[in-house]
Amino acid sequence: MTLYIVGIGPGSKEYLTQIAIEVVKNSEVVIGSQRAIDLFSNLNETIVFNVKDLQEKLELSVDLAIGGKDICVLSTGDPGFSGILKPILKIAKEKNLNKDNIEVIPGISSLQLAAAKNRISWDNTNIMTFHGRENIKDILKIIDNGSTTISLPSKSVKDMAKFLLDNGVDPKREIGICERLSYDDERILKTTLKDVANNEFSYMCVMIIFK
Ligand SMILES: C[S@@+](CC[C@H](N)C(=O)[O-])C[C@H]1O[C@@H](n2cnc3c(N)ncnc32)[C@H](O)[C@@H]1O
Repeated sequence: MTLYIVGIGPGSKEYLTQIAIEVVKNSEVVIGSQRAIDLFSNLNETIVFNVKDLQEKLELSVDLAIGGKDICVLSTGDPGFSGILKPILKIAKEKNLNKDNIEVIPGISSLQLAAAKNRISWDNTNIMTFHGRENIKDILKIIDNGSTTISLPSKSVKDMAKFLLDNGVDPKREIGICERLSYDDERILKTTLKDVANNEFSYMCVMIIFK
């Protein structure tokens, strides 16, 4: 029995890996958001989760694995970056599922695609995720350390931009917005902090604060 945690990439089929497709196809039960499940065809049993029942369904995935099944849980991007690896490891520990029964299949993170689209070599960048966290102030400590910052915003990029402006960051600071990466309506734009604070964007955004 194995609990596979599979990264599906930023969203479009082109960014699925061959190994992800194989693992998903061979799993007895596949658990994921409807958007994630729709990327695959000819699946065995599927279980859909949404924001409200995510915890419950992740617990179910661990229970099913403990019961002896090969289970696969789908995570957007890479499971280890602001993904479902962390909550699953916590549940597995609580339920005494041995870590050796968990296998992670990496996916292409939205962060990686955002870096690629902006031709950024990201080994020297600040990487920050505010997803599901309230530590937005942490960004102020590093924003002027000489490196570009790539972040997953907390609520919306608009709120994030307003927060930075309120905390004295230059309104002319160059910002990259990478919206709905890999989808047909993908938008990549470079603009100013002030402009971002005055516009609406999808929640599916990576925000780059150039150095
Ligand atoms: C729960 S986090 C998951 C991140 C994911 N594990 C990853 O590696 O990309 C969800 C956030 O990732 C970002 N995101 C995910 N897919 C995206 C996409 N296709 N385009 C832009 N941002 C995306 C957005 O900031 C979104 O709110």
